[in-house]
Amino acid sequence: MRVLVFYATVEGQTRKIAETIARQAEKDGNEVIVTDANQMGFVGAGTYDATIMCAPVHMHRYSSPFVHFAHEWKDALNSRPSAFVSVSLAIASNNAEERQEAEEIASELLQSTGWEPRTVHHCAGALKYTEYDFFKRWMMKRINSKEGGPTDTSKDYEMTDWSELEGFVTQFLADAKNQMKAA
Ligand SMILES: Cc1cc2nc3c(=O)[nH]c(=O)nc-3n(C[C@H](O)[C@H](O)[C@H](O)COP(=O)(O)O)c2cc1C
Repeated sequence: MRVLVFYATVEGQTRKIAETIARQAEKDGNEVIVTDANQMGFVGAGTYDATIMCAPVHMHRYSSPFVHFAHEWKDALNSRPSAFVSVSLAIASNNAEERQEAEEIASELLQSTGWEPRTVHHCAGALKYTEYDFFKRWMMKRINSKEGGPTDTSKDYEMTDWSELEGFVTQFLADAKNQMKAA
């Protein structure tokens, strides 16, 4: 299958997630194109057999270029198998309300754009204290100390479960291939 992996990122973790998805999809025998939401001149989702869209939550929302793409290409996306990988830290929280909020942010995106992916995979991102500027580091430490997350700002914390992500990709693409054969 021809697979599009489309992603947005601010701090780079979702790019790493998109690259892992692409590697796994290739390992599973697919032809894969990876595209950044900020890349100019991209023509769209219409020519791919399946699409995996990945975006991080920042300040309770996804970036505008990503939302715009989902809205603009919803008909093409809805006409074939697509999946949404939502990247956040709240999904890794011990607090059920926080996890629920991460799920609601994803549901709201789908409602507002009309995009209907076959599946939504919630993926924990990373806390990159050493790469943040002073204000971001202060804010992220404050949020994490309230929620019982890591607060040692001399380190970075990668929460992403890579083997769960790879398993998700293999399953989604196997289902997509079966649907194509059955159609
Ligand atoms: C300024 C900032 C705001 C964030 N806001 C949220 C948020 O509202 N909810 C959440 O679950 N995670 C939030 N995060 C965590 C990010 O989703 C996480 O760090 C993710 O790995 C970022 O992906 P990226 O590196 O691709 O940008 C925030 C992170 C930063 C740096």
